[in-house]
Amino acid sequence: MSGETASDKTVSSKTVSNEPSAPHVVCDRLVKIFRVGASEVVALQGLEFAVEAGEMVGVVGASGSGKSTLLSVLGGLTSPTAGRVEVGGIDLASLGPADLARYRREQVGFVWQRTAANLLPHLSAAENIAVPLTIGANGNRRSRRARCDELLDLVGLGDRGGHRPVELSGGEQQRVAIAVALAAEPSLLLADEPTGELDSETADAIYELLRSLNRELGLTQLIVSHDPEIATRVDRVVAVSDGQLASERRARTSALDGDTTSDELVTDEVLLVDGQGRLQLPAAALDALGIEGRVTAEVVDGAVRLTKPSEPGEEAPDE
Ligand SMILES: Nc1ncnc2c1ncn2[C@@H]1O[C@H](COP(=O)(O)OP(=O)(O)O)[C@@H](O)[C@H]1O
Ligand SMILES: [Mg+2]
Repeated sequence: MSGETASDKTVSSKTVSNEPSAPHVVCDRLVKIFRVGASEVVALQGLEFAVEAGEMVGVVGASGSGKSTLLSVLGGLTSPTAGRVEVGGIDLASLGPADLARYRREQVGFVWQRTAANLLPHLSAAENIAVPLTIGANGNRRSRRARCDELLDLVGLGDRGGHRPVELSGGEQQRVAIAVALAAEPSLLLADEPTGELDSETADAIYELLRSLNRELGLTQLIVSHDPEIATRVDRVVAVSDGQLASERRARTSALDGDTTSDELVTDEVLLVDGQGRLQLPAAALDALGIEGRVTAEVVDGAVRLTKPSEPGEEAPDE
């Protein structure tokens, strides 16, 4: 099934970009500062990031590192203090309130960790899915009904549409949440720890569903996760640290191609260097050299060598 044939809406509003090669998501030196009373919290500090159309990216990082803030900015829920965010070739800062609301409604879907936060408790699964269809006023009641059934099938809940969230398991509730998020046929899905409240077997099944949506609909996905297996589930994992991207790992073989198991999966971790040449050295490297605050950098034989500078009065180490 294709996301485009599934609806009677025009395709143009879903076109990702005029330039086929442009990334779907671009974050350019994003800064987000929250003011709390007299103090400031810097949640994003010059974050640079691009996601290709149809890419499935995992986002990891310690609590408070800025992962949720990044998703909020990408979803148009909060505006950055500085920097630029472009989704599908649209600079979000250029959108007025009405266009931004439309962007949130049509271009992005959200799935949150707390299963209860994703759904209206007094409505059945099918009725929850119908809410965004009604707001978007897509077609008549019959076509909405058909779309609803199609979405339930898509997430593997064809026979559960009549149940209210309380009558569904946690995994089923997240499936409904995914269907709700996809109702308006967004091209980008943002998920903030979607399996955080699920046991590992149920989480596996949710990731399989997300992967099949990625394959079938070409859905670009950003998934914040604490799942240790995340690298085997997505195309690329980026690590956020102190509001910046610090490193990324890419699966050499896509985890779901063939019968590759997580044990066979080879990943390469690289450090990310931003447009200003900044990078974050891994803690292990800092510890190994006892680096604090300063290093010297020189290019030696095609490599950059970082050395702990000698203390004043200390003799330079012998070459
Ligand atoms: N609405 C807010 N008001 C004030 N501070 C916030 C707000 N949202 C997030 N923060 C702060 O910004 C930092 C990053 O938060 P967040 O993006 O939620 O991190 P993560 O999702 O990685 O745990 C944290 O220090 C957090 O306390
Ligand atoms: Mg968070």
